[in-house]
Amino acid sequence: MAIVAPSVLSLDFSDFKNQVEKLNSSEAEWIHFDVMDGHFVPNLTFGPDILKAFKKSSDLFMDVHIMVSDPVFFSNVFIENGADCITFHLEALESIEKCVELAREIRKKGVLAGISIKPKTSCECLYDVLNEFDLVLVMSVEPGFGGQKFDDTALDKIRKLKEEIEKRNCHTLIEVDGGINQATGLLCKNAGADVLVAGSYVFKQNIVEAVKTLK
Ligand code: DX5
Ligand code: ZN
Repeated sequence: MAIVAPSVLSLDFSDFKNQVEKLNSSEAEWIHFDVMDGHFVPNLTFGPDILKAFKKSSDLFMDVHIMVSDPVFFSNVFIENGADCITFHLEALESIEKCVELAREIRKKGVLAGISIKPKTSCECLYDVLNEFDLVLVMSVEPGFGGQKFDDTALDKIRKLKEEIEKRNCHTLIEVDGGINQATGLLCKNAGADVLVAGSYVFKQNIVEAVKTLK
């Protein structure tokens, strides 16, 4: 059984109330927020007010994926507005030491800390610092847009990370994001993923049914 995290990037905001009610009644445990700054990725999404709106209408765990060039600044903005987990990108900071430093700051505030890697970034540099993170997010598309095709090089990374996590007795979760549907979701779960993010697959059909097929 995986944790399912529908990505609100694909939510129909003209039908906000109804779609959030559907998420609340589904088997999803998390909601995934894709924050983009128009700089780290060539797309711009939302700020902390969106989190506040969800907080009023849902008790789901708020999983915030910040695709921004300044994760140190933006992690605080989203923590102050209700994030339960902040996942920032390894590629946004100049070294792994800086990533560990930021994760420690996030955890100090009682929020889970996640680190994300893009499809072309290898996962080996994370092995020795896995215990510093609550979650590793393996991107299975280039970050920036929903509706892209699943890149199966993510599967090998998930397998390797799972092995390292078990070897080191860590509790780090593995999350995968991009091109997830029932078939690719199953491949990821079999490879060792704990959390599946899905945007277009969930919101382009019956939300409750779609979530069920990913569990
Ligand atoms: C991509 C985002 C994803 C996106 C996934 O940059 O990080 O969370 O919403 O969308 P789908 O599931 O449509 O690939
Ligand atoms: Zn995401």
